[in-house]
Amino acid sequence: MTGVSGSGKSSLVSQVLVELVAEQLGHEIPEEEEEGEELERSVVLTTGGRIVAGMEGIKRLVRVDQKPIGRTPRSNLATYTGLFDNVRKLFAATKAARARHFDVGRFSFNVAKGRCETCEGEGFVSVELLFLPSVYAPCPTCHGARYNAKTLEIQYRGKNIAEVLGMTVDAAHAFFAEEPQVLRSLSVLREVGLGYLRLGQPATELSGGEAQRIKLATELQRVQRGNTLYILDEPTTGLHPADVDKLMTQLDGLVESGNTVILVEHDMRVVAASDWVIDIGPGAGDEGGRVVVAGTPAEVAASSASRTAPFLAEVVG
Ligand SMILES: Nc1ncnc2c1ncn2[C@@H]1O[C@H](COP(=O)(O)OP(=O)(O)OP(=O)(O)O)[C@@H](O)[C@H]1O
Ligand SMILES: [Mg+2]
Ligand SMILES: [Zn+2]
Repeated sequence: MTGVSGSGKSSLVSQVLVELVAEQLGHEIPEEEEEGEELERSVVLTTGGRIVAGMEGIKRLVRVDQKPIGRTPRSNLATYTGLFDNVRKLFAATKAARARHFDVGRFSFNVAKGRCETCEGEGFVSVELLFLPSVYAPCPTCHGARYNAKTLEIQYRGKNIAEVLGMTVDAAHAFFAEEPQVLRSLSVLREVGLGYLRLGQPATELSGGEAQRIKLATELQRVQRGNTLYILDEPTTGLHPADVDKLMTQLDGLVESGNTVILVEHDMRVVAASDWVIDIGPGAGDEGGRVVVAGTPAEVAASSASRTAPFLAEVVG
């Protein structure tokens, strides 16, 4: 979906389409914000229209944006992707863990029994200062490990759970070479160029582009049944051209697995790589909201009515 700023792309794709598809699927509207801004959302829900065809190819709706994958340091790359569940299973299955009746919950820093009591699994404590904002300091008990000493005694192939969380995706990929379940998630994360991230890196410390790629990687690692509609509004904003390439590879992967990807996009390189382009406009505000031209990138590039056409033509060979 292309068009000048203010032409109505987001209104159509991120609002109307999302609402109508969700309604047809009988879903709750996927929330854009975790904090429910009720007032704002009720205003948004005034758009109309209906879907006349095409729903047979759509069973699921997913929005992928650059918003954080979590708002607290309790969520991280490993928990979000589900990879940590499998890692915890491996720890719980060790001889030492079974002898002590430590289950998978024991290896979660969100569950009381295994985590450090002082910091409740946060790894740091807040220090109150008189007249000053409180500051965070490493936990004096676990020194950032997040777990209690008993939990840390359990090792899987010579590493405890805190050491595993400290590994980068690349290092973990080598370490878990014989664990296909874990390896699957790690491989996808590497493919999207996130091999340098630590498994335990808090969600709050990730960049927008990283958060977006983690969301896509999480989708890519699913057993693909196809028939999912992915909606992305300006996914390349702020991305380096090399990262745009990685994003395009992932989106291609989703399409190849039988899914549909709709994106609002200003990057003509991405537009040129699409199967179908819909140009909205012709102008902004009251001058917008109509389909100016729709077709293959080459067809749209040849349109005399579209303000996108000359820019697309530069890229379409
Ligand atoms: N809730 C609203 N109430 C009234 N007007 C709105 C509302 N939301 C958007 N608009 C207007 O509708 C037009 C289309 O907005 P929209 O956000 O869909 O544009 P867009 O094509 O996504 O632009 P951009 O490329 O800048 O993101 C704009 O003129 C905008 O000012
Ligand atoms: Mg927009
Ligand atoms: Zn602690």
